[in-house]
Amino acid sequence: MISTEVLKSASTILEHSIMYYQGRPVGTLAALPSSPLAAANYEECFIRDFVPSAFVFLIQGRSEIVKNFLETVLTLKTRERVVAGHEIQPGVMPASFRVTIDSSGSEKLVADFGERAIGRVAPVDSMMWWIILLDIYTRSTGDVELASRPEFQSTMAQILHLCLKDSFEVSPSLLVPDACSMIDRRMGIYGHPLEIQSLFYGVLRIIDNLYLEPEPQSKDKVSLLHTAKVRKQALLNYVRIFYWLDLKRLNEIHRYSTEELGPESINVLNIHPESIPNWVVNWIPLDSGYLVGNVSVGRMDFRFFSLGNLLAILFNLSTEDQSRKILNLYESRWDDLIGDMPVKIIYPAMEGLEWEVRTGSDPKNVPWSYQNGGNWPALMWPFVAAAIKTGRQDIAERAYQTAVKRLKEDNWPEYYDGHSGRLIGRRSNFQQVWTATSLLLSHHLLEDPSLLDLLPNAL
Ligand code: GLC
Repeated sequence: MISTEVLKSASTILEHSIMYYQGRPVGTLAALPSSPLAAANYEECFIRDFVPSAFVFLIQGRSEIVKNFLETVLTLKTRERVVAGHEIQPGVMPASFRVTIDSSGSEKLVADFGERAIGRVAPVDSMMWWIILLDIYTRSTGDVELASRPEFQSTMAQILHLCLKDSFEVSPSLLVPDACSMIDRRMGIYGHPLEIQSLFYGVLRIIDNLYLEPEPQSKDKVSLLHTAKVRKQALLNYVRIFYWLDLKRLNEIHRYSTEELGPESINVLNIHPESIPNWVVNWIPLDSGYLVGNVSVGRMDFRFFSLGNLLAILFNLSTEDQSRKILNLYESRWDDLIGDMPVKIIYPAMEGLEWEVRTGSDPKNVPWSYQNGGNWPALMWPFVAAAIKTGRQDIAERAYQTAVKRLKEDNWPEYYDGHSGRLIGRRSNFQQVWTATSLLLSHHLLEDPSLLDLLPNAL
């Protein structure tokens, strides 16, 4: 009974969030305008926030909105943008967009490529979510015409070129700046953050199905797809080995030799055992493990990031055994990672000098708040999906029941504060749309696990 009312309230939020352009629904707002907004751009449609909305629309048979969204974002991407000697790469997609009325009274779409957002960083996840959503749309509707349009094909080629082009890198993981994905403020995640690697792998996994340009294929396309295939395998092996941490691996790292030269070396990334933080030693239970937040030469960020781990499970980036151990970790460390509101964004929070240096003393990201260890209901749907996929409906249901008790009563906050997420976030927005859609989508997934088939190679 409670659940029915809560779901009704979530559906109302979704309906009221629909954004129109020239009479067509093209997206959903980040938050309803009724409450004072925590940030002005919450009146915009964020690419990543639209993903759970899109999923729900597809389940409801309203695929037109998703199609309109995919087309709209594509047109925004193609607008040329030059900033004094620096051109944003073709293929990069905006973090968000809004509809404005110009002086002649006609509607105009305005995109934000990071130049207006607080973090001032071009989002890297948007283009990846766009391709993944295109794949979900294609699977769900059977409409292959959209993905095969020349402008869709060329956009996918641009995105692939951008992600696969040679750089100064020696590892198969993708090098990106801080704040370029869901965590869009400085949080010490520059380099090779797990979330981006999981999304990148998701894209490489589906690109063959989507990039359908008719025969004969151009030389460029054949070579691009070949590079994508090789990179996919290399990325898979790399993440499974170098990002994985469990007690066995922690013991290896603890006893690592360093400064090894040549191909025989074992500690190839030259990780110094002294960099193992104290908290991790007692935190990892037996028969559990996770993919660490970031890896590069001489650097292992041991923090646990939920989204990257959950997407790794969903896209089969982690092995079956690793996925099982990640879910075991959630179960054993329930208070830390789920607590009073699913799901913790990062564990643990950064405090003291580390917080000062890495966030630039960001008051919004104080320890155990917002992106620095807050609990985000928007992360519930990937948790529920990953748990179902790993055969752990029991803990998916437990997390869902925890959320359903509070969200409507609390007016759909964006995030919660505190070690276990008991407090509504100090600067949290209300009626946040992906909080509501995440609950709706979790409900649908629990009712019908076969919906997981829509995700790239989910089952
Ligand atoms: C915050 C989140 C970001 C989200 C946006 C809109 O900036 O960090 O991931 O897209 O709010 O909800």
